[in-house]
Amino acid sequence: MTAAITTDPALAARILAGGGVVGVPTETVYGLAAHAEYPDAVHRIFTIKGRPSGHPLIVHGADAGVLDRYAEAVPDEVRRLGDAFWPGPLTLIVPRSGRVPDVVTGGRGTVGLRVPDHALTLRVLELLDAGVAAPSANLFGRTSPTTAAHVQHDLGDAIDLVLDGGTCAIGVESTILDMSDGDPVILRTGGIQAEQIEAVIGRAVARTARGPARAPGMLEVHYSPSARVLLADADGLADTLAALGAAARPVVVIAPRHVVADGATPILRPRGPRSEDFAHDLYGLLRDADAAGAATIVVVPPTGKGIAIAVRDRLRRAAAAGASAH
Ligand code: TXA
Ligand code: MG
Repeated sequence: MTAAITTDPALAARILAGGGVVGVPTETVYGLAAHAEYPDAVHRIFTIKGRPSGHPLIVHGADAGVLDRYAEAVPDEVRRLGDAFWPGPLTLIVPRSGRVPDVVTGGRGTVGLRVPDHALTLRVLELLDAGVAAPSANLFGRTSPTTAAHVQHDLGDAIDLVLDGGTCAIGVESTILDMSDGDPVILRTGGIQAEQIEAVIGRAVARTARGPARAPGMLEVHYSPSARVLLADADGLADTLAALGAAARPVVVIAPRHVVADGATPILRPRGPRSEDFAHDLYGLLRDADAAGAATIVVVPPTGKGIAIAVRDRLRRAAAAGASAH
């Protein structure tokens, strides 16, 4: 059985208002949404995903008013960041207000807030007149969904509805910026780069904090397909393939257009040559490789800066699962 699917934001808003759980499109990946102020509904998200309760959820709002409702003592530079990048792929970690239930943040004093850039979901949020708590709509530790069909495939009839907003425009999760503790720190890379943030707030941003205290849920092993993932650079691809034993086969390669393999191994390609194309297709291609029966997926990540940094981060974590986890 799979969940019902719709393109009607009013239906999605009604189900959320009634305490339901709905897969919703954003510009990054699909989220699994519940009314942010209904603890029982939010609790269902953790059960459905198999997600540990200590991993806090992002609250999504229709506009920068999300700061007034769900954050406390919002500094001017946080407002400036919202004005500059929302709607868009930036999550701001700020001290939470009393309207955020403990279940959303795992009892932490901070909350992640963002305004997603997708017309259908913005309409849902307007109609609901409240925020939704929403992690990515995948099973815990696995590849994020970038189409409604991915959500249906992963979560089946455990959820009440999927709102179909097409394929996600960006394809990797939002940049997470911790603004709660003096010095700004990027906890997760994404579509908004540190340089862009620095240009708005006029001070330095630290490029990634590690460890559970500052970044709960940012696990070293994450975003994994069923097959084992190996990374190779363009020049080393043929050697990597040649070195794989029988137990590692069948193999599927994911690589940009200019990369050639050994002529025998099937290759899946992003839709175009840019890092943005790789990000857009990343999770879909990993799922396609799984569906093709791959035991091993060898990926040649994009080089360079910008969104390529986030793509390499996700692939490194997907590869960290190694043979042992599968
Ligand atoms: O693009 C995205 O951000 C997507 C879409 C659906 O909006 N959402 C998403 O949510 O990726 P999720 O739950 O898969 O990842 C959110 C991460 C958590 O793993 C956690 O590390 C971090 O956000 N996070 C959330 N609230 C936090 C907080 N209060 N303090 C520190 N980290 C937090
Ligand atoms: Mg996730």
